[in-house]
Amino acid sequence: MNELAKEADDPGGIAAVQFRRAMRHYPAGVTIVTLQHDGRPVGFTATSFASLSAEPPLISFNIAETSSSIEAMLAADSLVVHFLGDHQHHLAQRFSRAAEERFADDSLWTSLDTGEPVLNDTPIWVRATVRQLLPIGDHTLVIGLVTRVHDNTDDQPIGAPLLYYNGSYHRPRSLE
Ligand SMILES: Cc1cc2nc3c(=O)[nH]c(=O)nc-3n(C[C@H](O)[C@H](O)[C@H](O)COP(=O)(O)O)c2cc1C
Repeated sequence: MNELAKEADDPGGIAAVQFRRAMRHYPAGVTIVTLQHDGRPVGFTATSFASLSAEPPLISFNIAETSSSIEAMLAADSLVVHFLGDHQHHLAQRFSRAAEERFADDSLWTSLDTGEPVLNDTPIWVRATVRQLLPIGDHTLVIGLVTRVHDNTDDQPIGAPLLYYNGSYHRPRSLE
């Protein structure tokens, strides 16, 4: 086990409940990660997304070791990350609830030539190839190299990005 993994296993005495309570106050953009596994679509809502590097263009997110998508994620060569707009609030909910329902409505998604499912009406999505998987604590950190960017925001100006904060969904309000 490397040093970082050991630290994550022993967070130095703070209670998990204290950690979770503090993290609730950190606002995050909402994404849905999708991929193909054994010919089937797989996906889940994730707020752990981050832009990691510009050159090369790298992104990251974390997946829980208990996730029903973990086996698919560990086997995947590529994936799509959708940056949700506030009009996709229902998709964020759908992709964090019963896994078997997530792709049940065929009208909500299509597949890329490369196989990954893409959710309709998403303002921005990026396709990435998996570069590194780092098991750490109770999650795996996934690092991907972005190979394709789909940006609809010129044609259809984005209403507002979807945010998650303190246990519920929000849209941002500008201060300027
Ligand atoms: C707002 C929000 C953000 C989430 N972010 C993540 C995340 O970054 N990584 C992750 O593994 N699960 C995340 N989840 C949980 C998954 O979306 C999903 O609910 C969980 O994996 C349970 O699904 P399962 O039954 O398919 O395992 C998040 C859930 C919500 C509601």
